[in-house]
Amino acid sequence: MQLKTTMTSHPPAVILDCDTGIDDSLALVYLAALHHAGEITLKAVTTTAGNVDAHQCALNSRHILNLLNLPEIPVAVGQPHPLIVELTTTPETHGDTGLGYYHAPTAGLELYPDWRELWRHNLTNTTHLIVTGPATNLATWLRGGTWPAHLTLMGGAYLYPGNTTPTAEWNSWVDPHAAKEVFAAAEASAPITVCSLGVTEQMLITPEILDTLIAELGTSRAVEFLPDALRFYFEFHQAQGEGYQAQIHDLLTCMIALGTIEVEHTDVSIDVEAESELLRGTTIADFKNHWGRPTSARLITNANIEQAHLELLRAIQVLAKHNTVR
Ligand code: BDR
Ligand code: CA
Repeated sequence: MQLKTTMTSHPPAVILDCDTGIDDSLALVYLAALHHAGEITLKAVTTTAGNVDAHQCALNSRHILNLLNLPEIPVAVGQPHPLIVELTTTPETHGDTGLGYYHAPTAGLELYPDWRELWRHNLTNTTHLIVTGPATNLATWLRGGTWPAHLTLMGGAYLYPGNTTPTAEWNSWVDPHAAKEVFAAAEASAPITVCSLGVTEQMLITPEILDTLIAELGTSRAVEFLPDALRFYFEFHQAQGEGYQAQIHDLLTCMIALGTIEVEHTDVSIDVEAESELLRGTTIADFKNHWGRPTSARLITNANIEQAHLELLRAIQVLAKHNTVR
């Protein structure tokens, strides 16, 4: 296995585009810790409609960043609907407002008015754009904007069962046209790093791991929402037959994007079924190059999960050290 990137003297700039969401909230906690540690600069958070509506995702993200003592990082609402299909949200997976049994306040949260402006301003030729929700904002942006220097996407299931239909993963299913458009626009010179279910489902938080994290968090205000959010996610996974634990897709995706854990990958071209009802959101990787297209995706096939847990613990300890009580 190889680390994807080596750290340069400047902390990498990061934009997170998410649909917060319980596992997205852990991605935020992780990025907040790295930002506090000076290992990245979290420039902005933008939201897509997916787990809950885009406005609620933004309120959740804003509230979490405020709790983690980062009120200066702007959060903006992205596109309110998928490109073509109607929006479907998933309260059964993430709770009515996206954070399980925890609810962000409904008043007093200030959002940045224009997500495109945040991308325009912060997407430089070194920025990492990490997309952990449906690809709606990304596809919309790519219709006129520049291709991000480093682009990582959580989405799809490759030779692996879907979590939404037998063949489709949630993010790809919610906005299949956006996912299709993004992969159609991808070029070999700037491949998209793709984190799919076969890898992300391995990043499991159990009640025991959560207890350890909570104890390590000390006085960090992350303790205010993590237990209630994760209890809901544990129950959801148990109801799905996955056991009383939770798959933390989006957190693992951020670690992979930033090269903080070891991964294996294969270079492929990817396409997405957008029109058929039966196969909506099904993602296909051309492992044997039957299509003869240039490879434009770096499909992660394996990630060092043990390292990911250590990395999460390290991040949690950073948060505790930076004393996020306001
Ligand atoms: C993806 O779907 C969402 O529910 C999660 O937040 C994650 O991004 C996993 O399929
Ligand atoms: Ca997500």
